[in-house]
Amino acid sequence: MALGCKMRNFLFLICILSGTVAYAQQDSATAAGDAAAGGEQQETAAADDAASGGGEKYPGIPTDQASISAGQELFEGNCKTCHNIHTKLVGPALANVYERVPGEGEESIEWLHNFIYNSQKVIASGDPYAQKLWEEYKPTVMTSFPFEKEQVKDILAYIQQETIKGPATASTETGPGGEVTTDGKQTGISSTYMSVILGVLIFVLVLILVVLILIVNILVKYLKDKEDLDEADREVIEQKFSFKDLATNKVFLAILTAIFIAVVAKTSIDALFTVGIQQGYQPAQPIAFSHALHAGEYEIDCNYCHTGVRKSKNANIPSANICMNCHSVVKTESKQIQEIYKAVEENKPIEWVRIHNLPDLAYFNHEQHVEVGEIECQTCHGPIEEMEVVYQYAPLTMGWCINCHRETAVNADGNDYYNKLVELHNQETDEPMTVEDIGGLECSKCHY
Ligand code: HEC
Ligand code: HEC
Ligand code: HEC
Ligand code: HEC
Ligand code: HEC
Ligand code: HEC
Repeated sequence: MALGCKMRNFLFLICILSGTVAYAQQDSATAAGDAAAGGEQQETAAADDAASGGGEKYPGIPTDQASISAGQELFEGNCKTCHNIHTKLVGPALANVYERVPGEGEESIEWLHNFIYNSQKVIASGDPYAQKLWEEYKPTVMTSFPFEKEQVKDILAYIQQETIKGPATASTETGPGGEVTTDGKQTGISSTYMSVILGVLIFVLVLILVVLILIVNILVKYLKDKEDLDEADREVIEQKFSFKDLATNKVFLAILTAIFIAVVAKTSIDALFTVGIQQGYQPAQPIAFSHALHAGEYEIDCNYCHTGVRKSKNANIPSANICMNCHSVVKTESKQIQEIYKAVEENKPIEWVRIHNLPDLAYFNHEQHVEVGEIECQTCHGPIEEMEVVYQYAPLTMGWCINCHRETAVNADGNDYYNKLVELHNQETDEPMTVEDIGGLECSKCHY
C-alpha cells in the first residue's frame, strides 16, 4: 500500500506549491503597485492612444508647425524635468492629456490652462479629477506657470503631435531612477497578464488538490470495507494525519526551509534596494521656519541665507545671526522667534535636521552646478519657495545624477574655458555638447 503514502506526500507538495504561487502573486501585485515609472504607466498611455484610435486631432488645438515648435520649446524649457509624453516621470505621462481632463473642446483646454497656471488652486477648489491626481502624486507640487492661453495651446499642439507619433517612434527615454525604458514594444510581460496567469495556475492546482483528496477518500473507504487485508496495509489505511509525522518528514522540512530562505532573501534584497533613498523625506524642524513665507512671500534670495551655494561645494545652512538681521526687530514677541534669541544668547547653534545627505563616497559641488552650469535650485530641490517644511524632492541616486548629465547640454555661452571643447565637439556631430561629453559620467568625477 505504498500508493497511499505516495499520495499523501504528493498532496503536501501541491499544498506547498499553491502557497508559493499565492505568495508570488501577492508580491507581483505589490510590485506593480510600486512601479513608479515602470511599464504600468506606459500601458495606460498606450491604452489611451489606442482608445483614441492612435490619436485623433483634438478640436481647439492648433496643428501648424509654428505652434508645435513654440510648444516644444516651452515644453523642453519648463516641463521636461517632470514630464515625459509617453512615460511617467515625476508627473504623469502627458500623451492625450487633453482627452482625459474634465470638459470637452475649449472647456478642457481652459481647464488645462487653469491647472498649469496654478495646479494647487485647482486642487483646492475641490475639482475631483485634480484631487485624484494630487492623491497619487503628493507631496510633489507642480510648479505654477503664468502662461497665456495661446502658450498653453502651443504646448498642447506639441503634446498632440508627439501623441500621434506614438511611443514607438519616440527615442529611448530614461526614468528618474536611471532605468532605461525602451518605449513601446519591448516592455515584456505586463503585470496584469502575469497576475491572470498566476491566478489560473492557483485555480488549477487547487482543483487538482480537491480531486486528489476525493480519490484518496474513496480509495480508503473502499479498502476499509475489504476483509482480507494484512496487518501492514490496515495500518496504512487507518493511519491518522499527525503533525508529529509531518514535523519529522524530511522532504517536507527541506521544502519548508527552502521556501523560508527564498522569502528572507527576497525581502532583504528588496529592502537593500531602497536603502539610502530618501525621496520625500520631510523631518520636523526645531523652529517652524517656512520657505514659503521667507523665500516665497517675502522673496528673500536663496543666496542671502545659503551663502555658500554660488561659491563653494556646500550651500550652508544659515546661522542664527543671519536670522537676527531681521528678527532683532521683526515679530519679536513670537515664541518661535524667541527660540532664535535663546540660541544666540546661549551661543548654541539651532539644531536643524539635515534633509539632503549624499553618502560620503560621492562628491557633489553646488558651485559647479549653480554658478557654472546655471541650473536653478528648483530643478534639484523642487518648489522650495512653496514649501512650509522642506522635503527631499529628488531621489539623489547615482542614476539621477547620471541621467541629468546625459541629457543636459553644457552651458558654454560666454565661458572661454569651453570654447575649444565646443569647437571640437561640433566638428563631429550636430548634437549639443552634454555633460556626458565633457566626462560627466566618469566614476572619478563623482567618487573620491
Ligand atoms: C516640478 C515638477 C513639474 C513640472 C516642472 C511640471 N509639472 Fe505638470 N505635473 C506635475 C505633477 C506632480 C503632476 C500631478 C498633479 C499634482 O501633483 O499636482 C502634474 C500634472 C500635470 C498635468 C495633469 C496631468 C493629467 O494626467 O491630467 C498637466 C496637464 C501638466 N502637469 C502639465 C504640465 C506642463 C505643460 C508643464 C510645463 C509648462 C508642467 N506640467 C511642468 C509636476 C510637474
Ligand atoms: C531666510 C533664510 C533662508 C532663505 C531665504 C532660504 N533658505 Fe533654505 N533653509 C534655511 C534654513 C534655516 C534651513 C534649515 C531648516 C529647514 O530645513 O527648513 C534651510 C534649508 C534648506 C534646504 C534643505 C537643506 C537640507 O537640510 O538638506 C534646501 C534644499 C534649501 N533650504 C533651499 C533653499 C532655496 C532653493 C532657497 C531659495 C528659493 C532657500 N532655501 C531660501 C534658510 C533659508
Ligand atoms: C530678510 C529678513 C528675514 C530674515 C533674514 C529671516 N526672517 Fe523670519 N521672518 C521675516 C518676516 C518678514 C516674517 C513675517 C513676520 C510677520 O508675519 O509679521 C518672518 C517670520 C518668521 C517666522 C514666523 C514667526 C511667527 O510666529 O509667525 C519664523 C519662525 C521665522 N521667521 C524664522 C526665521 C529664521 C529661523 C530665520 C533664520 C534662518 C529667519 N526667520 C530669517 C523676515 C526674515
Ligand atoms: C544639480 C542639483 C542641485 C542644484 C541645482 C542645487 N542643489 Fe542643493 N543639493 C543638491 C544635492 C545633491 C545636495 C546634497 C549634498 C550632499 O549631501 O553633499 C544638496 C544640498 C543642499 C543643501 C543642504 C546643505 C548642503 O550643502 O549639503 C542646501 C541648503 C541646498 N542644497 C541649497 C541649494 C540652493 C539654495 C540651490 C540654488 C542656489 C541649490 N541647492 C541648487 C543638489 C542640487
Ligand atoms: C539637473 C541636472 C544635473 C543633476 C541632477 C546633476 N548634475 Fe552634475 N552637472 C550638471 C551640469 C549641467 C554640469 C556641467 C557644469 C559645467 O558646465 O561645468 C555638471 C557637472 C558635474 C560635475 C563636473 C563634471 C566635469 O566633467 O567637470 C560633477 C562632478 C557633477 N556634476 C556631479 C554630480 C553629482 C554627484 C550629482 C548627483 C548628486 C549631479 N552632478 C547631479 C547637471 C546636473
Ligand atoms: C555623476 C556622478 C556619478 C558618476 C559619474 C558615478 N557615480 Fe557612482 N554614485 C554617485 C552617487 C551620488 C552615489 C550615491 C547615491 C546612492 O547612494 O544611491 C553613487 C554610488 C555609487 C556606489 C555605491 C552604490 C550604493 O548603492 O551605495 C557605487 C559602487 C558606485 N557609485 C560606483 C560607480 C562607478 C563604478 C562609476 C563609474 C562607472 C560611478 N559610480 C560613476 C554618483 C556618481
